Amino acid sequence: MLAFIRSSSLVLPTRTTPKTFPTLIFLFNRTMSSSAYDVPFPIIIDETLGERLQPNEAELTTKIADTIESVIHKEYREPGTARRDVHAKATGILKAHFKVHENIPPQFQSGIFIPGKSYDAIIRLSNASGNPHQEDGHADGRGFAMKLLNVQGPKLLESDKNATTQDFVFINHPFFFTNSTESYLKVFQKNASDSALQKLTIPFTLGLKGTVNAAVLGGGKIANPLQVQYYSAVPYQLGLGESRLAVKFSIKPVSPIKDELPNHPEHEYLHQAIKTTLEKGEVQFKFMIQPKIGLNMEVEDSMTEWSEEESPFLEVATVTIPKQDVDSTEIQALGERLSFNPWHSLVEHRPLGAINRTRKVVYERISRVRDQINEVPREEPTQA
Ligand code: HEM
Repeated sequence: MLAFIRSSSLVLPTRTTPKTFPTLIFLFNRTMSSSAYDVPFPIIIDETLGERLQPNEAELTTKIADTIESVIHKEYREPGTARRDVHAKATGILKAHFKVHENIPPQFQSGIFIPGKSYDAIIRLSNASGNPHQEDGHADGRGFAMKLLNVQGPKLLESDKNATTQDFVFINHPFFFTNSTESYLKVFQKNASDSALQKLTIPFTLGLKGTVNAAVLGGGKIANPLQVQYYSAVPYQLGLGESRLAVKFSIKPVSPIKDELPNHPEHEYLHQAIKTTLEKGEVQFKFMIQPKIGLNMEVEDSMTEWSEEESPFLEVATVTIPKQDVDSTEIQALGERLSFNPWHSLVEHRPLGAINRTRKVVYERISRVRDQINEVPREEPTQA
């Protein structure tokens, strides 16, 4: 598929004191894809926070979106059948409540983090595989996607500017397997190819660290998705203007209780574990922020965990998942229809780094294609 980019960039200093020279780069670009759902590449590169544009990033991003779109069209033709390209199987779609602590540090008080403020939320727990029928006992990564409702203010995603949602997307490890849009594309193409030889060369594309990360990310078994810590893995802006920070997020169960892995796991045992837990009572997670301090915490390096010794995660909010019926057909259907996207966001929480820039184009495009095949209305929810 053809993809063209016309881009130029203008470096705008936002302050010109001799000591510091913070820069925001505004890209004026337009990627052209044959897709009906092309999405603009992010226009701001915040060099002060550590963002750096990679060569041909917008064009490569368009190619990733084109490639995934063609796979979705090939795999799913009938209305109602289309699923996510990854994280296809939900183990639970849950109603929740998010409450910001009254005493959060002043430097974090921005965007949704208003002391004492509460939001209703929807959570989608998932297995990372693209196979929606994979048994839960299969080694895999796990996802935790959360959508806060009734969040006022314009959002970053052009097509959902007036939406009243703020999304946070987590996985159960603090890192990703690549920093680079180019290597993501190559790995995706090799993985989707029919050639066993192509697949065998994936470790060469990822390098040693990427191969180890990929093995860890995809290699784990868990007993209960409500008893696991999750991480944003990639960074986000927090705040505006000169006091803005780069941060990562994590969400950790308040209770230390951990179930044992079942000896003979049933096909859907993770869903069953969620069901059993939430029949008994509510579950709470601590929502935490880790600010970037020091040069070892790189915004463009998605493959390296930021040291918790250097910068511990600080608790700023509580997520409460009340006792509920997790088998409600209505909420299951809502979970399939929803699009969780880190760019469903206030500008105060702008996603940072190449991986997040790629996700802006890919998530919006792919979820729209999914909705179009499934013939479901496209709208952000206003209530759970
Ligand atoms: C360039 C890198 C990435 C690409 C191309 C990518 C691609 C995708 C796609 C296509 C979806 C399905 C979207 C939909 O149809 O609604 C998805 C979902 C997801 N991704 Fe990524 N992803 C990337 C990086 C990451 C990272 C760094 C994380 C770490 C938090 C992550 C976590 C998730 C989760 C948890 C979901 C499921 C969200 C839900 O429940 O709807 N992804 N990803």
